Amino acid sequence: MTSLWLADRIETSPSSGTAEDLPGFADVVVAGAGITGLMTAVLLARAGRQVLVLEARTVGSCATGNTTAKISLLQGTQLSTISAKQDKNLAAAYLDGNRAGQNWVLSFCESAGVPVQREDAYTFAQSERGVAAARAEFEACRALGLPVTWEKHADVPFDYHGGTRLGEQAQFDPMPFLDALRAELLAGGGQLVEHTRVQHVSSSRHGLRLQVDGPRGRTDLRATQLVLATGIPVLDRGGYFARVKPKRSYCMAFDVPGEITRPMMISTDSPTRSLRYAPVNGSDLLLVGGAGHTVGREKHPTDGLAELESWTVRHFPGATRTHLWSAQDYAPVDELPYVGPILPENETIYVATGFNKWGMTNGAAAALALSGRLLGERPAWDRAFASWRTSELRGLTTALAANLSVGIHLAKGWITPTAYIGQQGVGEDGGVVSGPPWNLQAQCRVDGVEHRVSPVCPHLGGIVSWNDADRAWECPLHGSRFAPDGTLLEGPATRGLTPGS
Ligand SMILES: Cc1cc2nc3c(=O)[nH]c(=O)nc-3n(C[C@H](O)[C@H](O)[C@H](O)COP(=O)(O)OP(=O)(O)OC[C@H]3O[C@@H](n4cnc5c(N)ncnc54)[C@H](O)[C@@H]3O)c2cc1C
Ligand code: FES
Repeated sequence: MTSLWLADRIETSPSSGTAEDLPGFADVVVAGAGITGLMTAVLLARAGRQVLVLEARTVGSCATGNTTAKISLLQGTQLSTISAKQDKNLAAAYLDGNRAGQNWVLSFCESAGVPVQREDAYTFAQSERGVAAARAEFEACRALGLPVTWEKHADVPFDYHGGTRLGEQAQFDPMPFLDALRAELLAGGGQLVEHTRVQHVSSSRHGLRLQVDGPRGRTDLRATQLVLATGIPVLDRGGYFARVKPKRSYCMAFDVPGEITRPMMISTDSPTRSLRYAPVNGSDLLLVGGAGHTVGREKHPTDGLAELESWTVRHFPGATRTHLWSAQDYAPVDELPYVGPILPENETIYVATGFNKWGMTNGAAAALALSGRLLGERPAWDRAFASWRTSELRGLTTALAANLSVGIHLAKGWITPTAYIGQQGVGEDGGVVSGPPWNLQAQCRVDGVEHRVSPVCPHLGGIVSWNDADRAWECPLHGSRFAPDGTLLEGPATRGLTPGS
């Protein structure tokens, strides 16, 4: 499952450093080389800070290299949802932050020669059921001063029952953008080392001590400040894993013989349909996204994929799938992103999470807010991007509900597999957790190769389940994901599943 952006790509920036280049000390360490981490690093390097970016995998390998990459202020139903739950000033500050992020990304792309397509964005109803939400978004946008219009009709080949339109938004291929950020970082004296994962962090009055795992094993390094731009924070301090919900969804690219829908569109009613096009080698591919679910809690994600593909082929006859991929992002319990000190009053470790699948502007806003904070120039809108806020109490009911379901999934994971005792084998291709609670086994077969691992998630003991679309193990508690052989892919866990016998 390789995204259109990561497939067959030619890197245009100088290569990153290697494990040998790891310094013993860095003024600021940024963990994670997606949009948030790389942009934060560039902004700090521009201000003369000595920055080291550590990336567990490769640049863009998680959400940013697998996104749909709409750079839009009209974000599905974000503004109406935030306006309904939060103070009007906070909703306005959220929009200001996203506008600042969008402006920064667009002007950086222009100066770095990164291609961007300017298109209208729609939040639309595909049935009568979705009209009220699309209308609510229209009202919320208008109340916040966005120049949206209500469009009764749209020139699209699928069901459309009205929608909100915002003109002149943008979309791009995120990888040339990340390449350009990397190039500027390295040219400005910053460092970037890939395949190097931050494992442990301890604080003392002499600063931070980081233990990092790379191709040459474990290394110690010291830093004054650390930014965790890791999707979900990889340190448990602050309990962010209990304040966000990991949401995974799928994207497909299609070669379409006829006309392709030009605007960027997302439906309010389910199943979600998210559309845009992507210019590739002189022609355009249609991108369709959807089939979302909470990580680890969908029995057969392949069913949602089949439904999404058949919907596309029905409405775009002759469409042929060229790429299929998936990614996850984190939905905050109180609707606003968490950006700032990991714990109140802590000015050494910072987090950025909870972008709810709108990180092309929220990740950029987070980078502006974090770098501003570290440099003593906080933007006025950063109150909507706080890692700790009193208004979060409003999200408490949602947080309690989310954690109640986490508790249920924890118990279910340990008890249910007993039902599989005696079931042998996993068929041609698939995975299963079996055995009594005192001897659980996860067994899968992929491309004829069988793997056995312990199903116990090393984060906080959840029992993983098999995702038949991604062919990966997923933890239903906080969204950690593992390859068939147990290698850690992403999430709050910092190590893989233990090999089984
Ligand atoms: C299917 C999908 C579609 C989306 N579409 C859109 C869209 O159209 N528009 C939009 O605005 N947003 C969209 N988003 C959201 C957006 O892609 C994300 O919010 C954004 O990419 C997050 O960027 P990030 O840099 O914070 O995280 P990531 O890009 O996930 O980067 C985090 C990095 O940290 C690294 N890492 C993790 N742990 C460690 C560690 N311990 N040490 C070192 N490195 C570590 C990871 O390997 C990863 O590279 C979408 C998301 C999904 C899932
Ligand atoms: S991700 Fe938290 S227990 Fe698995």
